[in-house]
Amino acid sequence: MNLTQSLYHHAKSRIPGGTQLLSKRPEMLAPDLWPAYFSEAKGCEVWDLDRRHYFDMYSNGIGACILGFRDPDVTEAVKRRIDLGSMYTLHPPEEVELADVLCEIHPWAEQARFMRCGGESCAAAVRIARATTNRSVVAICGYHGWQDWYLACNLGDSDALRGHHLPGLDPLGVPGELRGTSLTFRYNDRAELDRIIASRGKDLAAVIMEPCRNRDPEPGFLEYVKERAHACGALLIFDEVTIGWRLCYGGAHLKLGVDPDIAVFAKALGNGHPIGAVIGTRQAMDGAHTSFISSTYWTESVGVVAALAVLRKMRQVDVPAHVEKVGRTVLRFWKEHGRKHGLPIGGVDDCYPCLAHFSFTHPKSEELRTLYTQLMLERGFLAGTSIYPTLAHSEETIALYGAAIDEVFAQIAEGLRADTISGMLKGPVAHSGFRRLL
Ligand SMILES: Cc1ncc(COP(=O)(O)O)c(C=O)c1O
Repeated sequence: MNLTQSLYHHAKSRIPGGTQLLSKRPEMLAPDLWPAYFSEAKGCEVWDLDRRHYFDMYSNGIGACILGFRDPDVTEAVKRRIDLGSMYTLHPPEEVELADVLCEIHPWAEQARFMRCGGESCAAAVRIARATTNRSVVAICGYHGWQDWYLACNLGDSDALRGHHLPGLDPLGVPGELRGTSLTFRYNDRAELDRIIASRGKDLAAVIMEPCRNRDPEPGFLEYVKERAHACGALLIFDEVTIGWRLCYGGAHLKLGVDPDIAVFAKALGNGHPIGAVIGTRQAMDGAHTSFISSTYWTESVGVVAALAVLRKMRQVDVPAHVEKVGRTVLRFWKEHGRKHGLPIGGVDDCYPCLAHFSFTHPKSEELRTLYTQLMLERGFLAGTSIYPTLAHSEETIALYGAAIDEVFAQIAEGLRADTISGMLKGPVAHSGFRRLL
């Protein structure tokens, strides 16, 4: 067993679940083969502990590193701040500048608070909305983190969050008393939202949702949600943690033409350095004055300095246009090579290129996606059935990936014809959703 695999093997006995983030778990991709650890990363390239080199055609830091790993401009700004000291008894003045810049980009917003992660920023946004409205219930559409307020959805129907990004989330450890405080509705489903409002409208503090994830909303849907939320006295929160800065410069809601009362950002805002932001109208943010929302490391400097450097760079380079182009090319490869080799490929027309994905529409889809990842690893690519494109993906790298897709699809097609897929797998089949790691 090489260094990378043996460290992960040991980690599983020391760190429950093996990793700190479910979607970075090797068992979700190619068990026993996917390299859990890196020693160095740059652009879209990464080296594992055994100095094996890969191009990251997968998540690029689960969407955090939209400019690429170790972006030189962001790194320089962060290093400068570290050299001057990055944590003080006093505050980083840069946080005021960041608040100003975020409110300039989103002219409807007047105030900002900063956290460090996406999930905690969503939790803060919900707390603010509850404090502002003095109400307790939230209507939810999409994925918003691991915290109690969110998992409380699954205290009702057994798996209400199924279809909201992550199935199988058991609310173990979440107080049963929270039952009924978080209720889900599906994207574009006005009737489901109406049912929540009819039964709990007078207790509704907020509707929190991703403004979009895979495609534009049906015409009028976001406007409808906003109008219904406001009519019953609730606030509208847009969770831009993943889609923000990808679809356009700023929140995707700018492109979709609907302003919320509160918006949440994280991930790409720091390009790999922890920073989360909650911005809102003065009225909506009232609860941020009255509720206790406070943490030591929300006052360090690296996150805010990184965010300012990211936004500076994004003003100079059209990052959303680049990631759209990269995503479009990869989608075309999956589609055309899939057709060429007669593989059952689906989903390519059902996503934004900036969050491109496909699926094997086949009874053995999990085996096929595991094999895809295995064969890509053998060719030096970290790859799965989705890609978060970055500014660091050059035409040359994408062309290399395209040639690999051609070869790998040919091998998978041959395996399907000869019925040898299971035999081709060098490790167990990957799992999706959440489950205990044995
Ligand atoms: C839309 C959305 N909200 C919140 C989160 C949670 O963010 P974090 O993992 O930084 O806590 C994610 C993470 O994937 C997300 O996609």
